[in-house]
Amino acid sequence: MSVLSILEFPDPRLRTRATPVTVFDAKLGQLVGDLYETMYAANGVGLAATQVNVHQRVLVADMSEDRKQPLALINPEILERNGSQVYQEGCLSFPGLYADVTRALRVKVRARDVDGKELVVEVEGPLAVCIQHEMDHLDGKVFVDYLSPLKRSLLLKRLDKQRKQAATA
Ligand code: NI
Repeated sequence: MSVLSILEFPDPRLRTRATPVTVFDAKLGQLVGDLYETMYAANGVGLAATQVNVHQRVLVADMSEDRKQPLALINPEILERNGSQVYQEGCLSFPGLYADVTRALRVKVRARDVDGKELVVEVEGPLAVCIQHEMDHLDGKVFVDYLSPLKRSLLLKRLDKQRKQAATA
């Protein structure tokens, strides 16, 4: 397994719409393994294949404290969504940036596992946020898209400033 490099906003490749996985082979297993390794190495709670420039509908997540509850979803679709919650989100493609986003509180998701077996999971709270956030990446969408234009431009200015500081440090 290897740690892959993560695309950072505003890389236009983050806007790519991923295509469904049709072949469940060793190569897919390798991709899922690399996504886990990359997510854990970056201390993230979720990662979509889009973020490592692989445009297939694959995401991984682990919101557990001990980082031992990995979840991989292939070709995920939301069957049901209920309630709403506001959660402060971050994203490995926007290092150091956080913003409140409103999403469904609970979602029922149908997906395939790495072997191609169908699974249906019902999640709520932070894990539901994470899965909705990662599924957006597969459609070329990022969390700042939900913010008002004013809030978004303030946040992106901050990202720019952080990058300039990092470059001169
Ligand atoms: Ni993200």
